[in-house]
Amino acid sequence: MSKSKVPVIDAIHVTKLFPVMKGIIEGLFKRSEQQYVHAVDDITFTIQEGETFGLVGESGCGKSTTGMLLLQLLNRTSGTILYKGIDVASSFTWPGYISRILNAHFFMPIGYGLSYIFRSKESRELFTEVMNEAIKEARIYKENLNDKEVLDRIKNLRKEIQVIFQNPYDSLSPRFNVMDIVAEPLRLLKVYPSEAEVEARVLHELDSVGLVPPEDFINRFPHELSGGQRQRVGVARAFTVDPKFIVADEPVSMLDVSVRVGILRTMNQLSKERGTAFLFITHDLALARVMCDQIAVMYLGRIVERGPTEEILHNPLHPYTKALIAAVPKPDPDAHRTEDLPIIGEVPSGIDIAPGCRFNPRCIYAIEECSQIDPQLETVKKGYYVACIRYKEINKIKN
Ligand SMILES: Nc1ncnc2c1ncn2[C@@H]1O[C@H](COP(=O)(O)OP(=O)(O)OP(=O)(O)O)[C@@H](O)[C@H]1O
Ligand code: SF4
Ligand SMILES: [Mg+2]
Repeated sequence: MSKSKVPVIDAIHVTKLFPVMKGIIEGLFKRSEQQYVHAVDDITFTIQEGETFGLVGESGCGKSTTGMLLLQLLNRTSGTILYKGIDVASSFTWPGYISRILNAHFFMPIGYGLSYIFRSKESRELFTEVMNEAIKEARIYKENLNDKEVLDRIKNLRKEIQVIFQNPYDSLSPRFNVMDIVAEPLRLLKVYPSEAEVEARVLHELDSVGLVPPEDFINRFPHELSGGQRQRVGVARAFTVDPKFIVADEPVSMLDVSVRVGILRTMNQLSKERGTAFLFITHDLALARVMCDQIAVMYLGRIVERGPTEEILHNPLHPYTKALIAAVPKPDPDAHRTEDLPIIGEVPSGIDIAPGCRFNPRCIYAIEECSQIDPQLETVKKGYYVACIRYKEINKIKN
């Protein structure tokens, strides 16, 4: 367990909606409301330095979308993502600043003027609030734009945030040997002044990921390696530039079961030794247990339970987590479980989300209120949260 308490990633009320494409005929002739897939819906969590944070849940619950948002490969619909305290989604350019200034000091005052003529006192007050926010945003933007340290940190992101891909068969270029594959980010980002230093670093990284002796591997091509060895090369490549944050989306799911745990342990050891914050995405609770200090269980875009891995897997409080644990090969035969709960039916679509608790159509504990109240994460104790209006009753927890 990590002792460090330095936040590397803060996801704050992050939402990602994908518009549902309509057919041409429907789009042209039917005036229906735009529908959205609620891939990620208002999620909040922090990953500390040296901490491995797991996202678990069934297929389609929004795990990969969350990873892509944190990697800045997708733009969020709303919410904030801070990387070491900085909102990295903003690129802090002069045109960006000018558009914010125009918005705050030109378009907003026009809107306010119009609302003064046509709208009620409440709507004017609301507008004033929004206008003040826009002015504040423009000011913060300007401060960041003039802050060399902030700009340097954003420039460094390519080095500081890395990804380990799911498929080691596709992600390594077949034309490069192991030396070139692992050295590529070092060379691109000009981390070392000399080629000798680059090569020494590559040998060190191969050694760290268990490809020993490294000299035996540097001249090999991906097709000359086993799946597990390829993924170790992928891990070495990600760690070689001393990243501060790594996203690994199902990094061992394509590999033989016999090598999975070994590779995860290597990743875990490296991230602990080097203080790297790690986002580990998996649908396999047993692997989450090997890897993660903290986990968040996702259901249809929402986090329904979040906290220390051992506690959640040993004694889950949310009905969905209980059902997930009951449904998969036992991660811990001694785990305390109240009963073996089936989950009713399949994961519904992320478009027509049930009112109230979105798990209610599948929850064996659902009562009438569950279709009226949308449960928010409640603090069970420090660092442990659950979103279920009946969790105390279900788990016989006294107030
Ligand atoms: N580019 C996209 N356009 C439209 N919908 C998308 C897109 N990407 C993902 N989705 C939808 O968003 C939801 C979440 O998808 P996501 O891939 O994040 O789930 P996941 O938890 O990673 O699933 P899996 O375990 O199968 O990888 C799904 O309903 C998916 O169909
Ligand atoms: S709020 Fe109701 S439906 Fe949702 S998980 Fe809890 S008991 Fe089940
Ligand atoms: Mg996925």
